[in-house]
Amino acid sequence: MSTASYSRFQIVVSSWIRACRSVARRAVAPLALVLAPIGMLHAQQPAKPSIQPWMALGLTPDARAALVLGEMTLDEKIAMVHGAEWEHNIWVNGGAKPVPTEMVSGAAGYVPGVKRLGVPAIQMVDAALGVTRGGYAGRYSTVLPSAISGAAGWDARMSYEYGALVGRELKDAGFNMSLGGGVNLDREPRNGRNFEYKGEDPILAGTLVGAEIRGLQAQGVIGDIKHFAANDQETLRTSVNVVIDERSMRETELLAFEIGIRDARPSAVMCSYNKVNGPWACDSPHLLTDVLKKDFGFEGFVLSDWKATHSTAVAANAGLDMEMPDGGHFGAPLKAAVEGGTVPAARLDDMVRRILRAEFTAGLFDHAAAPRVTDVFAGLAFAQRAAEQGTVLLKNDGGLLPLQPAKLRSVVLIGGHADVGVLAGGGSALVDPPGGSAVPTPTPRSPVYDPSSPLLALWERMPGVDVRYVSGDDPAAAAVAARAADLAIVFGVQPSREDTDLTSLALPDGQDALIAAVAAANPHTVVVLETGGAATMPWVAKTPAILEIWYPGIRGAEALAQVLLGKVNPAGKLPITFPRSEADLPRPVLTSLTDKSPVVTYNEGLRIGYKWYEAEGKTPLFPFGHGLSYTHFTYSGLHVDPRGASVAFDVRNAGKVDGAEISQVYVSLPADAGEPPKRLVAWAKTQLAAGETKHVELPIDPLYLSIFDVAAKRWRTVGGKYVFRVGGSSADTPLNATATLAAK
Ligand code: BGC
Repeated sequence: MSTASYSRFQIVVSSWIRACRSVARRAVAPLALVLAPIGMLHAQQPAKPSIQPWMALGLTPDARAALVLGEMTLDEKIAMVHGAEWEHNIWVNGGAKPVPTEMVSGAAGYVPGVKRLGVPAIQMVDAALGVTRGGYAGRYSTVLPSAISGAAGWDARMSYEYGALVGRELKDAGFNMSLGGGVNLDREPRNGRNFEYKGEDPILAGTLVGAEIRGLQAQGVIGDIKHFAANDQETLRTSVNVVIDERSMRETELLAFEIGIRDARPSAVMCSYNKVNGPWACDSPHLLTDVLKKDFGFEGFVLSDWKATHSTAVAANAGLDMEMPDGGHFGAPLKAAVEGGTVPAARLDDMVRRILRAEFTAGLFDHAAAPRVTDVFAGLAFAQRAAEQGTVLLKNDGGLLPLQPAKLRSVVLIGGHADVGVLAGGGSALVDPPGGSAVPTPTPRSPVYDPSSPLLALWERMPGVDVRYVSGDDPAAAAVAARAADLAIVFGVQPSREDTDLTSLALPDGQDALIAAVAAANPHTVVVLETGGAATMPWVAKTPAILEIWYPGIRGAEALAQVLLGKVNPAGKLPITFPRSEADLPRPVLTSLTDKSPVVTYNEGLRIGYKWYEAEGKTPLFPFGHGLSYTHFTYSGLHVDPRGASVAFDVRNAGKVDGAEISQVYVSLPADAGEPPKRLVAWAKTQLAAGETKHVELPIDPLYLSIFDVAAKRWRTVGGKYVFRVGGSSADTPLNATATLAAK
């Protein structure tokens, strides 16, 4: 080092040291230890502090947060625990209200920073399926396939990439916090937000949301997991009291959160609108403090859903750390509560410390926002790959699929606006597609169609085949067109959105009659479903091939075409059960929908999804874990570790084309455990060339073999015989073997 640069170095170091010494009285032990020897060397150097002590490298986020907190005034602390502005307020005021200059355009929430201390503002945006509100802000982001499509891939690596892409695009747009990570379980198949979630199984959903948030947070943004908890229907979501026993709650939806939090350590949890066993979720000390912060060891901050804060002292003392989107309770009222002693100052400090810690963990103090043009091409490529992997081939009688263009002269596409687009789910998770909806949206609640045209995608890929479209508005005309074609592809669409539930699982607007008419006119009929969850299918026996593509995103049509033509062999499996009819559901009628009852009792308890149908002996339309391929797989050689720590088996591609199989491991617990017939505990997606066999070994997490003991407030293993079942779906487990486990 030259003399000149050495002395510059000395000045910087010594000013840094002086700044640190000014806070040394706050007794931050690790920092003080580091500083002591250097401080002695340079104590005489006079200099103005140029680096704030919390910017010292090597300190933990907790130590850095403590240093900042020590400098903050009461007003600064209060300003950090609630939102300051909400772009919605600006829209409803017709633009009359000035936008805070610092707030990123299109933000769903904004918490200002503290400039004098260098605390960055938090810029939040919904980003469950991609970065939202692009239309308003005039920016582009990738419209990813819906979360349930992601779950149908059963692929944690894919979920990681999904989260990473969203994290990158968030940053590109200038945001630093996502409001994604929805993991409410599909307990109510009519829930309008099921498309935002990851299915009905807590272990699958929890694992996938954990991987997604890990991918997201790895980009240097704050990740969120939501809606905590039991927000499993939209009907009366802001008033309903969800009643559920503790064990069922811990082993179902809370387990999904527990796994997601364990695997990803998200920096934020959003508490939900509803009440849970009495108190509002955002007022519940049991949920927010006992379960989340103590049992799950959650170190981040809890923010309320938008306008889901109901109190000041009750919520703050229960464990809520941030009110969103404004400060009706956590602004002036919280200041008064702290001054009056109803909220301890230490509790306010804890709230602020958690938020600062999240900012440090995400690197927000260390890296300034660096907006840039999103990598559109990478986004499109990933969106297509994800949609392909999320496609589930439900039925394929007689090997109607894949299509063989050489043998086809004409194909007709019918209904579902398949000439121009694919359906998207509505509400705060909606990602505005480039160019706007492919189908006009006369009202703000009209379904949006992403401009990805099945007609064009197929037409481009089948030169020489006459590919055309009829709307399906007239079933008789559609039947005529179907009869005239070699093959018909009829689209069944089920729009769903936030803040409302489906009134029925039947496809709306006469589509069942349309599909039946088309199938009757042409035995070579393929049904393509675009739904946010399960649908009933009165025509199922008459249609040889059915594909579920969910809401498949901006490359949905291209992904569909690749699967239809066999360029991609479908491998997705259902992350939910499709019931035969609503009569088979635990609640055949969504009670709150009819009687406006503000109470919903989940008395199916542990028996959620496939566990319900199996316990009740009801055969579903398509079982959880089901999904076909253009090849088929066989299983052999199951070996279970005597302590239940792992399983191993062989899976063989017994067909003529390459493909991937998602093998599933279920376990039946000893009768004493009082559990449903079986539960998913592990799975693996294995790529297999035609004729190839692979040996699959899977560790089993002991947590997944346990039950929650409410009296002892802990997970425990029930001693006895455990039956491990392996196969390609919950209804098809050809291998089984037992292990006898000791009580623990
Ligand atoms: C939704 C949340 C969302 C928030 C902000 C609420 O209505 O329930 O999921 O993050 O709005 O847009």
